[in-house]
Amino acid sequence: MDSEEIILLLENLGPDSRGRLHTLAHQKRMDRYGTKVYLRGLIEFSNICKQNCLYCGIRSANKSAARYRLQLEEIMDCCQEGYDLGYRTFVLQSGEDDWYTTDKLAQLIAGIKRSYPDAAVTLSIGERDDETYTRLFEAGAERFLLRHETASRRLYEALHPTMTFENRRDRLRSLKTIGYQVGAGFMVGLPGQTSQDLAEDLLYLKELNPDMIGIGPFLPHQATPLKDEPAGTLEATLDMIALARLFVPDALIPATTAMGTAHPYGRELALQAGANVVMPNLSPLAVRPKYTLYDNKICTGDESAQCRFCLEQRIETAGFRVDMGRGDSLNWLSRP
Ligand code: 5AD
Ligand code: FES
Repeated sequence: MDSEEIILLLENLGPDSRGRLHTLAHQKRMDRYGTKVYLRGLIEFSNICKQNCLYCGIRSANKSAARYRLQLEEIMDCCQEGYDLGYRTFVLQSGEDDWYTTDKLAQLIAGIKRSYPDAAVTLSIGERDDETYTRLFEAGAERFLLRHETASRRLYEALHPTMTFENRRDRLRSLKTIGYQVGAGFMVGLPGQTSQDLAEDLLYLKELNPDMIGIGPFLPHQATPLKDEPAGTLEATLDMIALARLFVPDALIPATTAMGTAHPYGRELALQAGANVVMPNLSPLAVRPKYTLYDNKICTGDESAQCRFCLEQRIETAGFRVDMGRGDSLNWLSRP
């Protein structure tokens, strides 16, 4: 499909065609991954960030955020707990926090790989230079999540005062060249986002051919300039998940926390529209409420201590099976 065909489709989806789109995506997912849903243990290790994205609750200009930074030993403790719970992928996510130097991160990654050689390490730490990306890959990190956020230059520039559109794309290219399994992705329902912008997101994904694709609705955060903007809708986000599955059939696509925040069954609905990964929260309970990218984030209270078991129930009720394996992307496994 070209841009005009995608726009036509997006602007004419009704209840029937939307159902057909989600069914097609579900069939594609069944064909590639079956009913398996991969679990990743998410560790949000620092909410300190030097960037200032307009939508994000941990932007540097938000002086009301309670900041925290986990020590390397505390991150290792989370991995131990996760490993004992059965996780074989750890996603280390943070704001862009230079306190974690290349040396510290390489030491952490090597330590995790030494203790848990059968686990995969995924980084989600934002933009760094090639040298750092290379050293962290050599230390044992095999995957990297860096959403492109939006493929529209106009929107990207309006939302990211401290970053450039070119550099974002350049970082994604580098990660791929270095050899990481790469995750891109975007938000749906950003203020001012049009069908044409969403068409560009899909065409960009097709061109980049990432291993992972993270898609969630934009959700406002009260301490950001976008606090009064409407949230992205569940329906539009499900449509984009389904289309991402059809455009990049072998990708691993998470049913994101933002989907679960937008609707009580948002993650289940995402799984039924082509998603095949969930990322339960493994962060220490004490810091969870502080990692707030948007308002009303789920899984931040005491009742969420073990998201693993909550999600296992939910996934099975939705008709899928939990797979605790590393779950590498088919795309990557078939690379020469
Ligand atoms: N609403 C939805 N998603 C957000 N993210 C950051 N802020 C928000 C928000 N207000 C997403 C970005 C980022 C990912 C970790 O979280 O896409 O890449
Ligand atoms: Fe976190 Fe259900 S997934 S409480």
